[in-house]
Amino acid sequence: MVTSNPALAQLGGYPLARLQDLANELRADGRALADFSIGDPDEPTPPMIRQALIDAVGPVSRYPTAAGQRELRVAVAAWVARRHGVEVDPDAHVLPSAGSKEAVFHLPLAVLDAHGPRRAVLWGEPGYPVYGRGALFAGGRSDPVTLYAEDDWRLDLAALPTDRLAAACTAWINYPHNPTGATIDVEHYRRQVAVAREHDLLLASDECYQEVWFDTPAPSVLEACDGDLTGVLAFVSLSKRSGMTGYRSGAIIGDPALITRLRLLRPNVGTASPDFVQAAAIAAWNDQSHVDERRAVFAAKRQVVLEFLATHDLEVSGSQATFYVWFRAPGGDDGAYAEALLRERIVATPGRAFGPGGTGWLRLALVPTLEGCRQAVGRWATAIETGRLPT
Ligand SMILES: Cc1ncc(COP(=O)(O)O)c(C=O)c1O
Repeated sequence: MVTSNPALAQLGGYPLARLQDLANELRADGRALADFSIGDPDEPTPPMIRQALIDAVGPVSRYPTAAGQRELRVAVAAWVARRHGVEVDPDAHVLPSAGSKEAVFHLPLAVLDAHGPRRAVLWGEPGYPVYGRGALFAGGRSDPVTLYAEDDWRLDLAALPTDRLAAACTAWINYPHNPTGATIDVEHYRRQVAVAREHDLLLASDECYQEVWFDTPAPSVLEACDGDLTGVLAFVSLSKRSGMTGYRSGAIIGDPALITRLRLLRPNVGTASPDFVQAAAIAAWNDQSHVDERRAVFAAKRQVVLEFLATHDLEVSGSQATFYVWFRAPGGDDGAYAEALLRERIVATPGRAFGPGGTGWLRLALVPTLEGCRQAVGRWATAIETGRLPT
């Protein structure tokens, strides 16, 4: 028999197969479900971005390069300056990615020594599972750090024992945070940068939601570096910012020595975005108005959902940014509550899907339209008022 990468066996099955089966059963009768489960909103990609892609499809197709078009790196650097007030060099500090997911997954291949003493990758849990999976597939070890509501779901490297830090090569932080929507300020980033440097760790900051904020603009780790990007990489994406999940486009920004390493690695993987996607990405990074418009749409949906949850005394935590709302499961069992919601034709994700630390909570992704959100919370309210759902 052909051998297998042991990391595959460690992935385990999908923990929520029962819920999936129930959702599929309900869908079979043809009536729509209000689906708040997947982080892929229905809002269209702005027309000028779509047009930029169409205009860039030429008669001859060529391989794109891993370093990307210079104009794209310049557009990313200009956005960093405009949005975060940080000057970065488009050639030394910026590398395009085909969305953050592949960049997150592939990072350990550049920085993890599978035979060395620092094989672990730290990340906050509940969280995006790809941080740990990238470590496993690179021959390393996933080391999730449990996050708590009492700490506002903040990962604090300073609270970890020294031996745990010494066994790791990389620490991932992700704010605004999936799944809780929690945020951190520049000071918290600054403390994480200091701990990471003290322990020779790479601080990798997944910032794919940082343009989806509501009250205060979400900062970047780049703002906490005071001009010295040593040991720090920020991962940004157009997926959520510009409604471009299907385009696969993002960027890695930071430490020039690490960018050089990634420039060596990434041509081997084949991660370059097609040139016509890069053209659309240039149009997207150069424009901020569509981002503000999208944020206003999410803000309106968020208000509908937050008002409903407050009216019915459902406890919300985090939820300051991202298009996720995170609330405590009435009765404490997130799986049972998700199943009860499904019977009302509302799909939410039980928190345990993001790791054991998410048990007892649920995530709503503000994916349906504003009208869809209104109708769903209307049905939800009726189910509570008639006693079909607990509060
Ligand atoms: C925390 C987090 N990081 C990264 C990604 C991947 O985003 P992208 O579309 O840029 O690959 C997601 C996608 O949902 C995410 O939730």
